[in-house]
Amino acid sequence: MPRYLINFSLDKIPTESVPVVVVGSGVAGLSAALAAASSQRVAVLTKTTLDQTTTSRAQGGIASALGVGDSAELHKMDTLEAGKGLCEERMVDILVSEGPERVRHLVEDIGARFDRAGSGLALTKEGGHSRPRVAYARGDATGSEVEASLARVVRCEEHIDVYENHYAVDVVTSGEGCVGLLALDEEKGEIRFFHSPAVVLAMGGMGQLYAVTTNPAICTGDGVAMALRAGAEVSDIEFMQFHPTSLHLPETPRWLISEALRGEGALLLDQSGRRFMEGVHPLKELAPRDVVVNEMVRVMRELDVDHLLLDATPIGAERLMERFPNIYQHCLEAGIDITRNPIPVSPAAHYMSGGVVADAWGRTLVPGLYACGEVACSGVHGANRLASNSLLEGLVFSRRIGLSLERRLRSWDPADAPALEYHFERRRSRITPRLLRGLIQQMMQDNMGYRRSREGLREAALFLQENTDVLQSEYRSPAGFEVQNMLTLANLMVQAALMREESRGCHYRTDYPSMRREWERHIVYRRDNGGLCAFMRAVGALHDAEGYSYEVG
Ligand code: SIN
Repeated sequence: MPRYLINFSLDKIPTESVPVVVVGSGVAGLSAALAAASSQRVAVLTKTTLDQTTTSRAQGGIASALGVGDSAELHKMDTLEAGKGLCEERMVDILVSEGPERVRHLVEDIGARFDRAGSGLALTKEGGHSRPRVAYARGDATGSEVEASLARVVRCEEHIDVYENHYAVDVVTSGEGCVGLLALDEEKGEIRFFHSPAVVLAMGGMGQLYAVTTNPAICTGDGVAMALRAGAEVSDIEFMQFHPTSLHLPETPRWLISEALRGEGALLLDQSGRRFMEGVHPLKELAPRDVVVNEMVRVMRELDVDHLLLDATPIGAERLMERFPNIYQHCLEAGIDITRNPIPVSPAAHYMSGGVVADAWGRTLVPGLYACGEVACSGVHGANRLASNSLLEGLVFSRRIGLSLERRLRSWDPADAPALEYHFERRRSRITPRLLRGLIQQMMQDNMGYRRSREGLREAALFLQENTDVLQSEYRSPAGFEVQNMLTLANLMVQAALMREESRGCHYRTDYPSMRREWERHIVYRRDNGGLCAFMRAVGALHDAEGYSYEVG
């Protein structure tokens, strides 16, 4: 695996010096930029436009213990229960204890208009939550409200410069860690170097590794692949979470049907009208996601059908239209009146619980390289993320990055840009990015989906091995870089899934259908001499390596 996706000589590339570079413009990226901009100039780079993010698509809401009778302790218990023994408890403590204040800040200081009930925020339930604690905005448009509010503030912040249509290619490192970022300015068609001692990766997830996903086309895992090449650790990458309910209609792109519908009373039914979650879990339709998906897959196989039904009519027509205006409208345009008819649904790849290992202050193993949001593996999600903990994670840990940057920036000299160069002998690729993207997506869907087996995973590993030369090929477009990143990550995911001989959370092996005590540990990857090395870390010790710390500074 070459260190960089492109060859370069930094002294021949247009260079800009900026203390902090944030890549990604969802909740994590914009919150990190705002936190850092109180004392520094910040460049925010985004692959397309500022508001084209996974955050914008989030429907359900943000979980935090704001309700009467709720507490950080209860939120923690639910998070640990969903994470099936792989959560890092100290990180969960930070998430749940700092969460309520971050949500208040979003509403009161940033100005996000969340729905209210009486004098407080309206709170609903989602899968795995023992209390109503999910705050939401404009019914089912939480993500777009969060994105728009943060973007409004970012655009007015004089210390922040936004670079749209800039594709981040690679983090540049030298002996002292991160020294900047190479990005393709798509409008000019040129590579630029952002000389910076602090790069924050907040580029979202990798649902596009699958043929069936709720994620937008930009989610190709670029941040995780880039961090791995730069020397950061990647963990828990076998835990791709599938959302139980995506709209399942022929010729219609998948679309998230929020879990909040089930929180408000929608029922999962099979084609005969049987409520199949009864008797499976005490929380029935609101069991943790892995439990619901597993049962759905079992029932679909038994009945030989490719989808099941979500009946939202018990919520009542008036409440449905008021509480879920977007879902109502979207389904209506697709030909389904959800106030009268059930919605055809099936699971879809939704959220990567693992990613770049980042400590309590967002630091990775590469000095000056930070990660937050879905790109990161902070350890709060374990083997299965609790619903609506992701926007919260983006808020909590991005702010901590902002608070911890000072020491890194203290000795930085903007005039001291490095003169590095990199050359790797590359050949033109024999396969087009578009074709390879489709092949990877189908191979992952078939072999690395909700049910996995040694046989299928070996087949996937073979396919990936046959295409490794693509990693050494020369592509000059985002489509090519994306497919190289997808191949890198697919390989990691399949290797980790093969290694983990058990079923836990979102990882289900048909040949090892139970959870096994000896697998209560993280599988961690790191780049080593041009190859990869994998090793294990015990739960509670994800950050036991020099370079991580629970202390700031
Ligand atoms: C949903 O609205 O169901 C998605 C929430 C989440 O993934 O946390």
